[in-house]
This record gives sequence, structure tokens and C-alpha cells, in this order.
Amino acid sequence: MQEVTYGPFDWPPADEEVRAALEQAYRDGSWGRYEGPQGTALAEELCDQFGCAHALLCSSGTIGVELALRGLGVEAGDEVVLAGYDFPGNFRAIEAVGARPVLVDVDSETWCLDAKQLAKVEDDAISAVIVSHLHGGLADMPRVMETAQQRGWHVVEDCCQQPGASLGGRPVGSWGDASVLSFGGSKLLTAGRGGSVLTDDPQVLQRMKIYADRGNQAFPLSELQAAVLRPQLRKLEERNRTRAKRVAEIRQATSGLAYFLRPIAGQAGAQAAYYKLAWSFVPAETQPELREQLLVRLQAAKAPIDGGFRGFASRGERRCRKHGGLSNSRQLSQSTILLHHPVLLAHEKAALQVALVLDDTIRQLVA
Ligand SMILES: Cc1ncc(COP(=O)(O)O)c(C=O)c1O
Repeated sequence: MQEVTYGPFDWPPADEEVRAALEQAYRDGSWGRYEGPQGTALAEELCDQFGCAHALLCSSGTIGVELALRGLGVEAGDEVVLAGYDFPGNFRAIEAVGARPVLVDVDSETWCLDAKQLAKVEDDAISAVIVSHLHGGLADMPRVMETAQQRGWHVVEDCCQQPGASLGGRPVGSWGDASVLSFGGSKLLTAGRGGSVLTDDPQVLQRMKIYADRGNQAFPLSELQAAVLRPQLRKLEERNRTRAKRVAEIRQATSGLAYFLRPIAGQAGAQAAYYKLAWSFVPAETQPELREQLLVRLQAAKAPIDGGFRGFASRGERRCRKHGGLSNSRQLSQSTILLHHPVLLAHEKAALQVALVLDDTIRQLVA
């Protein structure tokens, strides 16, 4: 079996500007401070880049989603719409504010919340919708926003996986009433941990600040974290371009596997960012054990490929309300495989080599 030899795929990459920021923080003592000019400057730069008026820095994307719900006034007893296939922390964030998730299926082309299904949801007590851009697919934000506005719902746009992506020429993060970024250790912008909530609404900002204030900031991002994020933000666009180029090469190299690998469909006017590159391993859509067998072989060959989210389709009715059968969510939870992004910025042959290993491994498995 072929093995990937270009690696390991370290993240974050060695970056002289990050080193300089760390050294500067050491010299000026800001590494020990709660708040200061680095955080203020980062918040302003995020507003510029993501086209919004306010950015609240916080301790993670998970906390960011919860703060966004609180900022939008979601309360105990409310319902919040969530895709049946999404990051598990988003389900928990809804529960954390005392609300109840209403699960809506994902679209089979974008793998994100299905805007057509959203328009059909029965509204018992819905106050908000969480919509995530996942795995290189982008949610149909114009339609999601149209439905939400018609029905008086707030929208949390989860951009944790896709900072720098755009839709119809507009940055993701500028569509929702509040939008969330993650600066977790594996993310495209990383400070080891951290996040941000973006909004145009000063009242949303104020509510989040009041909730987070416990005599001190309870969910902060430190000066040191802000300092290392700023140079990465400046490089985001260029790095996203390189990743997108590699993705196109991988897609081309795996196009002969169309019978076995179903990628997220290309979308008109969409410029994705790649934290993960996803396929549905088609044989696993009916035989889930085949995905596990594939992943074991891929990992043995050092390909940085893993399974996707478990999704919520089989969660009990006690914890959530379900709209329809959630068949796409169910299918993706058992068939998704995800290529992790660092390889996309590694040696230019590495991405192609991973594609060849994928090809080789699948052909052996299904032979
Ligand atoms: C879609 C999505 N939302 C939210 C998060 C949470 O971000 P964090 O790890 O910073 O809490 C993640 C993390 O992977 C994610 O993929």
C-alpha cells in the first residue's frame, strides 16, 4: 500500500511574524495582561475583514455560539433551529441557554442547513436559527436570512470552519445577526483557543458583555492570544487561496473515483475556505462499517483523514424536536470522511500524494 511520505503536517506552521509577535509580547510585558491594545486592534481588524460593526473577543467558538444566542435574547423555553448534522457543541449551546433544539435536515449539495426545509418548519416557539458553514460547503445565506426575516427569527452564522470564505461577493460572517469565529488549536486562525462574536447590533454586543461580566471577563481572549492572531489574519486570504488551489488539484486527482466519493457540490458565487475537505464515502451510505474500514487503512497509510460529526438525527425526542426524517443528516453522519487542512499548505506534492493514497486505498478496499 502507498504511504504518504510528505509530512508530518504541522499546525500551526512556523511563522516568523508570529514569533516576532510573541517576542514583542515578552519584551513589553503584554503577555501577562488581560486586556490592551492587541485585543482592541484585533477586534477592529476582524470588523474590517468580516464587514461588521462590532467584534467581541471570547474564549472559544463554542462559548461564542452560546454568547451569540444570549446576545440575541434567546431565553429558556425558546426553540432554536439547528442542522441535523453539525458541530456537537452547537446542540449543547442551545441547551445551555435553556432552549430546545429543532432539527432540520442538511442540503444534499451543500451539506449545510437546508434553506428549503427551514422555510417549512412549524413554528411553535422558535426564536433563532444556528447555521454553520461546514467542511467547505456554504449555507444558502440569502434564503436563510429571507425566511428568518419573514418569520421574525434571529440568525447565528457559525463561521468557525470557514474564516475568509465568501458568498455572492460578501464575506461569511456578515450575513447573520451574530456570527461566530473559532481560534482553536486546529483552526485556520489559531491562538490555541479563542473565538469571536461579530455583530452590527450594539444591543446584542451589550447583552453579551453583560452576561460575560462577572466582575471580570469570564470568557476572555488574552493579549497574548490577540497578538499571535493578528499576523495570521493578514495572511488568511493568501493562505485560503493556496488551500483552494490544492483542493482543486485533489478534486481533479480523485475525479475518477466519482462512484465511491461524493464531494460537496460547487456553488455559484461561493468562495469556500477549507478547514476540512469532505467527501461522502458512498458505499458507507448503506454499509457504515465500510467507512471505519477505510479510515483504519487511510490512517495506517498516514493520510490525515478522519470521520465527520456524529450528527443529531438519532437523538431522543425528549431533547429535541425533529422536522422530517433528517435522512441526509443521518447518511452524512455515517459516510463522511474529512481531510484535515494542514496538508493543503504543506509541500505542494503532499496534497496530491494524499489524493493518490485515497485512490489506492479505496480501490483495494472495494476490490
Ligand atoms: C462548526 C463549528 N462550530 C463551532 C466550533 C467550536 O469551536 P471551538 O473549538 O473554538 O470551541 C467548531 C470546532 O470545530 C466547529 O467546527
